[in-house]
Amino acid sequence: MNLPNINEAKIRTNNKVEYLEAKNIKSTKFINKYYYIRTYGCQMNVHDSEEIKGILENLGFRETNDLEQAHIVVLNTCAIRENAHDKVFGFLGRLKHLKREKPDLMICIGGCMPQEESVANTLKEKYPFVNIVFGTHNINDLGEMILDERAQQQIDVYSIEGNVYEHMDYVRDSKITAWVNIMYGCDKFCTYCIVPFTRGKQRSRKKEDILREILDLKEQGYLEVTLLGQNVNAYGKDLDCNYDFASLLEDVAKTGIPRVRFVTSHPWDFTNDMIEVIAKYENVMPYIHLPLQSGSTKILKLMGRRYTKEEYIDLYTKIKNKVPNVSITTDIIVGFPNETNEDFLETIDVVNKCKFDGAYTFIYSKREGTPAAKIQDTISLEEKEQRLYKLNELINAYSLEHNKEYIGKIEEVLVLGVSEKDNNKVYGYTKTMKLVNILGSKSDIGKIISVKITDAKSFSLDGEKQ
Ligand code: 5AD
Ligand code: SF4
Repeated sequence: MNLPNINEAKIRTNNKVEYLEAKNIKSTKFINKYYYIRTYGCQMNVHDSEEIKGILENLGFRETNDLEQAHIVVLNTCAIRENAHDKVFGFLGRLKHLKREKPDLMICIGGCMPQEESVANTLKEKYPFVNIVFGTHNINDLGEMILDERAQQQIDVYSIEGNVYEHMDYVRDSKITAWVNIMYGCDKFCTYCIVPFTRGKQRSRKKEDILREILDLKEQGYLEVTLLGQNVNAYGKDLDCNYDFASLLEDVAKTGIPRVRFVTSHPWDFTNDMIEVIAKYENVMPYIHLPLQSGSTKILKLMGRRYTKEEYIDLYTKIKNKVPNVSITTDIIVGFPNETNEDFLETIDVVNKCKFDGAYTFIYSKREGTPAAKIQDTISLEEKEQRLYKLNELINAYSLEHNKEYIGKIEEVLVLGVSEKDNNKVYGYTKTMKLVNILGSKSDIGKIISVKITDAKSFSLDGEKQ
């Protein structure tokens, strides 16, 4: 491959389109220099960081986990709840001190937070030591921004909003499992959620590009792909063709990659065709993350979720009946404005009926600019915390109950690494995404092995190799 040298690369930066076409800018300018990256938030951000690492390594940087060693620090941020902001601003305080000792340290902030106008303004006014502020739409421009030495503080969060990029040079965290974006953004506009504002409108990737990427991963020896999107079930709705998520999932299954899963599903778009494909193909993992958010139809309506309590339970039951041994997890928010104790008890009722395998639970966090932020929040923090506590107790009890059902069974486990707590153990996941700790060694990593489950806890299983 003919790669532009540093001067050519700079010239290219004057022409954005040309620069974007020349994705693979490589230079030796930053050779022997190190980058430190910190990722906050969801899998989408984790995968975006793999793209950022690709850009940095093409510029010559190498990764370090030691902040003191870094020449450039990148924070890939999350905006979903207020506490995500607090963590980033806290860390920025530390970086400010570090920059006093090392004035050449380059500090970059990207991801969802700077997409909020108020955050971009705060960074500009109160954090002048931050060199580069980029967003979710222009990760591709990061290389260009770093190469532009003249800039004191560059803030660009909107360039070429809504694009879908292809042929990225990812530096993937794993050689065994890989994230594959199938779409970007979200059109659902749940009233509490900042994502449609920070990540923009839904844009699906073309099926040819997705399948090419997956076949390539398979050839490289990857054993699992996770199809990523804020709302994967709505895949294709923005493309002018008759090709939906069920068709895509079927085509991905047919590539023969050993394991396929997908996150996240919105109950509204979950079709019968999808359920059939999940049930039909051995390599589609019987694991579904199906956010409930609330069990109260009144609150669901205020949240703009487009389904009732009963419709959710019906869908859940249908999936359980059609997909053998499926494991279903969920997301639940407590303390949404106007949630009464009766509403909360409706949520508890759904949990008792569905008996989820697991759940991520959150206290509602007001996000400025979202429709829900206008509804007055009357519930005390103490009340919200009590609801969260009760909910978690119940969720954990059902997780344990499900996990106990595995004792004595033989499960296929994809081994991902050596356990951090015990060097004699490795860990991996069942097809239903249950974490299993197994006596084993490094040589098991990257293999799918048969394991007899011997013990169960709320969040993991123990097993022995067969
Ligand atoms: N407050 C609390 N939780 C939220 N989530 C999204 N927005 C908010 C908010 N404003 C939760 C939802 C979603 C998960 C990724 O984060 O449960 O499914
Ligand atoms: Fe947010 Fe709703 Fe879109 Fe999920 S589906 S990203 S909760 S707006």
